[in-house]
Amino acid sequence: MENEILTKAAVPEGLSRVDGRMKVTGKAKYSAEYSTKGVTYGVLAGSAITSGSIKTIDTKTAMRAPGVLAVLTYLNAPKIPGYQENPQPKGPLKIFYDNKIYFNGQPIALVIADTFERALFAAGLIEATYNTEPFQTSLKNNLSAGFSPRNGKDYVRGVENAFKTAPIQLQQEYSIPTEVHNPTELGSTLAYWDGDDKVTVYTKTQGVKSTQRSVAQAFKLQPENVHITAPFVGGAFGSALRTWPHEIAAVLAAQVVKKPVKLVLGRADMFTSIGYRPASWQKVGIGATADGKLVGITHEAAGQTSAYEDFSEGVVNISQLMYACPNVNTKYRLVPLNVNTPTPMRGPGEATGAFALECAMDELAYKLGMDPIELRMKNYAETDPQSGKPYSSKFLSDAYKLGADAVGWDKRNPKPRAATENGWLVGYGMAAGMFGAYRNSATVVARLLSDGTLHIETAVTDIGPGTGTAMTTNASDVMGIPANNINFRLGDSAMPPSPTQGGSSITATVGSAVNDACMQLKDKLKELNGNSESAASGYAQILQQHNLPQLEVTVTSKSGPEMSKYASYSWSVHFMKVLVHPTTGVVKIDKGLSVADAGKIVSPKTARSQMIGGSVMGAGMALMEEAVIDHRYGRLVNNNFADYHVPIQADIPQIEALFVNKPDPHLNPMGAKGMGEIATIGVAAAIANAVFNATGKRVRDLPLTPDKLV
Ligand code: MOS
Repeated sequence: MENEILTKAAVPEGLSRVDGRMKVTGKAKYSAEYSTKGVTYGVLAGSAITSGSIKTIDTKTAMRAPGVLAVLTYLNAPKIPGYQENPQPKGPLKIFYDNKIYFNGQPIALVIADTFERALFAAGLIEATYNTEPFQTSLKNNLSAGFSPRNGKDYVRGVENAFKTAPIQLQQEYSIPTEVHNPTELGSTLAYWDGDDKVTVYTKTQGVKSTQRSVAQAFKLQPENVHITAPFVGGAFGSALRTWPHEIAAVLAAQVVKKPVKLVLGRADMFTSIGYRPASWQKVGIGATADGKLVGITHEAAGQTSAYEDFSEGVVNISQLMYACPNVNTKYRLVPLNVNTPTPMRGPGEATGAFALECAMDELAYKLGMDPIELRMKNYAETDPQSGKPYSSKFLSDAYKLGADAVGWDKRNPKPRAATENGWLVGYGMAAGMFGAYRNSATVVARLLSDGTLHIETAVTDIGPGTGTAMTTNASDVMGIPANNINFRLGDSAMPPSPTQGGSSITATVGSAVNDACMQLKDKLKELNGNSESAASGYAQILQQHNLPQLEVTVTSKSGPEMSKYASYSWSVHFMKVLVHPTTGVVKIDKGLSVADAGKIVSPKTARSQMIGGSVMGAGMALMEEAVIDHRYGRLVNNNFADYHVPIQADIPQIEALFVNKPDPHLNPMGAKGMGEIATIGVAAAIANAVFNATGKRVRDLPLTPDKLV
């Protein structure tokens, strides 16, 4: 009884994480763990004000502190050549560029010393004075300052505001606070130069090739003279999609002191240096006929961005795409504030939008007196409602069934606040998610050696989902070579190009290239073998017979023009059973179950982990995560793990993942679709919907903390 779901979704068969042992024994090395002879340490000092400019900055005391080699500020830092092309104000923050301050904590100086502790100490000795200017840090108070971003046109399908003509309708506002990226691994960079034109950088990044391009662009170097290494990444979720100012600062500092410089962000720095899911406000109007057919959806949203750069995301897109609704209109606005620039965070845009849409759907289901799954099935889109194109595949209805059965949806009491267990209110909720399924171009080199082992390389990173494991499984499936004879290497810019890991696209993208390379190797082997297929056990012999030390292919793989005929998405549904304490308002997740239609599951074990991890992240979004700014000062007050809460084991008793596991026949040779984003998209809504079912209280402002329920 304890583990009802677990018994139905036992840990799947398949290859265990190929780097699992390295990770749990500490053999896996992350950027901060690399060192080199004569390494020095950089520590950033941040602005004490929120908007204005630096009047004076005194670094003399810091310079005299023991072990200090240099202190860089806008006054003495060499001009970064790439910065000149695209001058501030608009664009990515340029570190040590001028005296302007755009947000509290903005780096104003970098101390380089012989030890980390000495650098940290000296950073505290820097004295700055400022000219302060008025600032705004509250999204709620500045909604009227919203502007329409260049890539966020207002959308109208059918009749605008048609929901207002529906017999059953509602309109509600939803808000989500800023949720800050807090992966385990801190932003870390080790940089050293070889002469004036070559640099080696170990850095936390989701894309070694994109970081190579950015560093080359900033310092006007040949890309091949910039060597980026990131063999392991300790979680990123969007926070390492771009090259951040602190990474550029480390490279710059290494140039100045002519020594290797290691710069590791402190946890507090993470709150101002690597982006976050921007605070958002949303308003959804939704209307249906008495039998539950959607008449119209109106979805307006605003998200915060920085004063120096526009960051926009597809918050309202999900309302255009999710349901077969004839009338949909959406609007999205950006509100510039004196904060650092946001960045994608798992399910960027859609996770935010799904919270509002999928809560509104739940509210509508209650108004209609209809089961929430039935309402969704009643408005199930059989073709893409936005483009009219057929789906490359969609098995969301299978996912609904699979999940409802496994979670025991029939046990849900549709009446709110009607069920208890041991004195706690019990509620069930569900919500769906979707995210585009993509495939980009990737190149891999595959070498079969005469000992029968297979070696594959590409410059992708693995930020945690298990790319190495999935690619090894993939190659093993195609070639028939056992996984322990396959060595998949990644995370180095000197390897053949692969895209940045992000947007749930790497299994489809790199997997296709691995698949194609393995197919080519098989063709070559067949040719060598007198045009007859050989079992994998015969590969070594074929090479030896021909006196070949190895067979090598380099393959670039991308999707063909046929993809434009289809709309491609991954789909998910999340079920949550929660317990809410009637007096204290404490919410406990009792059980969670996520079901994904992510096409063919290439690597079942890592896929399961990825889905569970995404759900935990959604639980953080729903129940606890909130960056709190004191708007009087524009300063974050909870930039640490004592005050900024993320879910821990005790918060997550049982979450399981199931898969429809039906291949997408069009997207790529494996039939795989992405999974990283849909694991989180919809989770927060499922929890809020479960809390309503338990309590009869509809909380539309995240996080769902106890004070909102008593
Ligand atoms: Mo992801 S938000 O594409 O790293």
